[in-house]
Parts: sequence; C-alpha cells; structure tokens
Amino acid sequence: MKSSNQSPEAHVSSVGHNLASTDWIDMHFLAMQPEYERMLSWVGIQSNWQVLDAGCGTGCYLPLMTKLVGNGGKVSAIDLAPENVRVVEERASQGRWSAPVDARVGTIFDLPYADQSFDAVWCANTSQYLSDTELLTMLQEFRRIVRPGGLIAIKEYDITAQQVQPTTPMLFLHLHEARCRMGDKVACYLFRTLSLPHWLREVGLIELRQKPTLIVRSQPLRPVEKKIVGALLELYAGEAEQADLPAEELDLWRKLSDLDAGDHIIHHPDFQYRCIQTVFVGRVP
Ligand SMILES: C[S@@+](CC[C@H](N)C(=O)[O-])C[C@H]1O[C@@H](n2cnc3c(N)ncnc32)[C@H](O)[C@@H]1O
Repeated sequence: MKSSNQSPEAHVSSVGHNLASTDWIDMHFLAMQPEYERMLSWVGIQSNWQVLDAGCGTGCYLPLMTKLVGNGGKVSAIDLAPENVRVVEERASQGRWSAPVDARVGTIFDLPYADQSFDAVWCANTSQYLSDTELLTMLQEFRRIVRPGGLIAIKEYDITAQQVQPTTPMLFLHLHEARCRMGDKVACYLFRTLSLPHWLREVGLIELRQKPTLIVRSQPLRPVEKKIVGALLELYAGEAEQADLPAEELDLWRKLSDLDAGDHIIHHPDFQYRCIQTVFVGRVP
C-alpha cells in the first residue's frame, strides 16, 4: 500500500511502504536509539525466552533483544520487504549478537510459526501500515503464536504530538489531519495509535500497560538527527503542496523545505523536534 502522496523522498521499501526503506530505518533508529532501546527494555523480556521481532525492518532492535534473551534464548525476525531481511541476515551472520536469530521474509498476517511457540512478540512502527481489519488479523496471529502468560508489545508513534519549533504549534497537526482527509492511509492509521489498548483488548489480552516516551531533539543536533529532521521536513513540505491548508501554513511549509536557507529554523538556537512514541503491552491469558 502506498501513501497517496508518493514522492521520491518518501524512502519507500520494495513492497511500497513509505519510510520503510533500509537506509531510512537505520537512520531513524540511530537518531532515536537511547529512547527506543529503553522502550524495548521496559517490555519485560526475560533471559532464555524465544521472541519474535515482527516487521523487523533491518533488525535495529536485535542487538538489544538478543542480549535480553541471552545465549539460552532465541530470536526470530520477519518482514515483508526482502531487502530489509537480507540486511538482518548479513548482520546476524557476523556473529556479534548474543543469541541466534532466524530471519525470514513473510507477512505478519499469516505467520509461519507454530501455535504458542514464542514467549513474546515485539512489533515496532508497523501498525501504521495496517487497516483496522489487518491490525486485528495481525494481533490474532500474535495471540496464536504466543504461549499463555507471554507478552505482546506494539510500539507506535502518536502523530498528534509531532512538532518542530519555533513555528506555529498546530502546523504538523493541521498537515496530518489534511493528509488523512485526502486519503493518506498511513496518516489516518497513525491517529489510531492512542486507541491501541482497545485493539489489544479486542483479541483478549490482559494486564494491559502502556509507556509513552517524549522524545526531544534540540541543539546541538547530531548529524543523524539533523538528517532525519531535514528529510521529514522535506517530505512533509512536499505533501503540504497537495494538502488543503491555510495559505499562511503552506508558506511556512515552503520555508521549512528550504533547508539551505541561513535562517532555517534547524539552525535556530531554540530549535526543537519532538514526538511521542508509545509501547503498548498485553499478556496472553
Ligand atoms: C517503519 S519500518 C519499522 C522497522 C522496525 N520494526 C523498526 O522499528 O526499526 C516497518 C516495517 O514493517 C514491515 N511490514 C509492513 N507490513 C508488513 C507485513 N504485512 N508483514 C511483515 N512486515 C511488514 C515493512 O516492510 C518495514 O520493514
């Protein structure tokens, strides 16, 4: 499925998902690594567990995940995009991870694993590509493959909280709302993040908990942070051109797209990029 406003800057994977190409996934993780690893650590994965990384991308979470399960555990990783799975296989073959990793190409809607064969599933930033029906199918599959007492963890970002400053506070929200109105499915699905507990309950999970993490990047920005914020601004500015926005907001987006301008806010001493990412965890009864 493609976003309605496909552009060359959208970092599209071979199967058509925006912001899911190999280089984007790595860059995104590097820019947010400390918070993202704390989020995975919070789930409660234990040593000797068998864990699935569903929608694993390039496997950015696998170094920590294999450390958490240790050499008595086992990690499986699955993703729809063959180029991302190839990267995981290459990294796994270097033998630096603390537990064996079995990577394969496949879909989260029909997992090639036996019933109750995992202690936990981790699924990061993948629900954003799924319709309600697909989300339910995925959660039912997770429930099938996790043993009673095991954990299902979904990480996703809360699109309502994304901001850059200094600029008008509603700029991002108005754009995302307009994208959703125009039929950009990913934008619409990301508005669902706040209601993910409802979906975990729908498949019968118990003991639900959630941990929202505020992520802020301010000066001095590391090169990778500058790169990802710049790429996001370019991408969103392109989408703003096609969205139904007030003229003054479109002007602001045009300014934000000119990253070479000396007065671009990315150079401002008060520059801030902020977003909220949340982990939702439920236990299989
Ligand atoms: C934004 S990336 C996130 C990758 C990784 N979880 C991370 O957080 O670094 C989303 C990943 O989900 C994968 N994906 C999307 N739909 C999928 C499906 N139906 N089955 C398996 N993987 C899927 C994409 O190929 C992509 O690698």
